[in-house]
Parts: sequence; structure tokens; C-alpha cells
Amino acid sequence: MGLVIPDIRNPFFPELARGAEDKANEKGYNIIFCNTDDDPDKEEKYINMLVEKMVDGIVFTAASERGKGFEGKKKFSVPIVLVDRDVNIDGIIGKVTVDNFMGGYEGTKHLLQLGHERILYLSGPLENKTASDRLKGYKKALDEFNVEFKEEYIKEGSYKSEWGYKVIKDIGSKLKYTSVFCGNDLIAIGSIKALKEMKLDVPNDISVVGFDDIYMSSLIDPELTTIRQPNYEMGYKAIEILINAIENKEKTIKHIDLATQIVVRKSTSKR
Ligand code: RIB
Repeated sequence: MGLVIPDIRNPFFPELARGAEDKANEKGYNIIFCNTDDDPDKEEKYINMLVEKMVDGIVFTAASERGKGFEGKKKFSVPIVLVDRDVNIDGIIGKVTVDNFMGGYEGTKHLLQLGHERILYLSGPLENKTASDRLKGYKKALDEFNVEFKEEYIKEGSYKSEWGYKVIKDIGSKLKYTSVFCGNDLIAIGSIKALKEMKLDVPNDISVVGFDDIYMSSLIDPELTTIRQPNYEMGYKAIEILINAIENKEKTIKHIDLATQIVVRKSTSKR
């Protein structure tokens, strides 16, 4: 089976791959692992290679810029299950996602409940449904707390720590935010590094929330408050759908949407 993921250096994905591999091995299948570096061209090359090798099926997380999906592309001749990022590919047989809207809502609500109203939101690429759904959750929480949404508090970038670091430095003191909600934990880790270099204390000056709960998030200082995704289970369930489709000739598209969970640690405090 093919497992195509976008960023091997992001700890979110190896844990997802581990779940996929465990389920595949449980049922006597092997995994061919492909890292696309978030590059749609590399992604397509890998998928075509896997189809040519006639793998039994593919579990696939799209490149973060692949918002438009594979519109107009030929239907793939092997069963494909999407995991994490929902894109429109003709002929998929299943998908495993999480409720990113609720995750974005819970992370923002946590900051609002601590008295923060000026919440900087550092988003992944908004073409990516995981990012756009989290932003919708952010807006919903602001609305519920009667806090005005301000466009200037939304910055769009990439799911990388380098971007989190750079955007905080670029903003400098131009925005008077008291908290940062980050599109993923790597953005949060980069942001915290920049805030510390600017002599700002996390959380006493600026509270920070991440998204994913990668293993590093409980090891950094301060330990990161974040939204946990069940990434091991996402990979495991995606392969399970694929195997059921192959072995039981399952015809209906199966969509599993898993819940996220807020993990409160030491990077957030009262305003
Ligand atoms: O950390 C990488 C991000 O991209 C995660 O939040 C995951 O949902 C993926 O879409």
C-alpha cells in the first residue's frame, strides 16, 4: 500500500504513518512511504508511480497548497483514501478527517475565557481545508464572545516553525495582541522563539496556543497549550477503510470525522 504524506519533518505525520503501518502489518500488507515536501508536482509523480506499481491502494494527505484538489485529473485506477486534508479527488473510496472547525473554536474560546480579546491567528495555507475550517472556528468563538473580528489579526503562511518565527518578528510591535492562536504546533514553536527574543514572556506577556499536540509540545518551555489531533488513529483508520474496501469490495464511501481535544499546559494564562 502507498502512504503519501506532505512533510516528513513535521512530527504530526510520522505518528500518523505509524498508525497506518501498524494496521497494514496487522493484516499482512506492507507500506511504500512517500514524502512530497508539500510539492503538488512531486505528489502527482509519487501517485503515478504507485499506480504503475499496481499497489493495492493509497492513503494520501494532500500538499497544503493543493486546495483545488485534482479537478480535471484522470480518475486513479487504485482505491484512494484521504487522511487529514480533505481535497476533491474523483473516485476516492473514503476519508479520515478531524473536526478542525471545533478545534479552532475550542482553542480560541480558551483564550477568550482567559480574558484575551486581541488574538493573533497564524494560519496555515487557507486553500487547505484544515486551515480554513480552523479559521471559521476562530471567528465563531469571537462572535459568541461579542469580540469584533479584525482582519489585521489574521496572518496566512505555512505550517512551518520558520514561518511562525518570521511572522512574529515582522509584526514586531505593530499589532497590540495579547495572545497567539497558531495553525499548528510548529508555527507555535517558532513564534515562541521569536517572542522570547523580543523579550516577551510566554504566557505572562503573550499567551500561545498551538494545534496538533506533537511530541515536542510537552517538552518545550513553556509546555504548549494545544489542540490534540488523534493522528495515530487517523492513519490506522485510513488503512482500515482501505483494507475493508479491497477485501470486502466495500462500495460506499466511508467518511470518519474524529474529535480533537484541547490540552491546557503552561503557555496560556489570564490576560
Ligand atoms: O502540522 C501540519 C498540519 O497539517 C496539521 O495541523 C495537519 O492537520 C495537517 O493538515
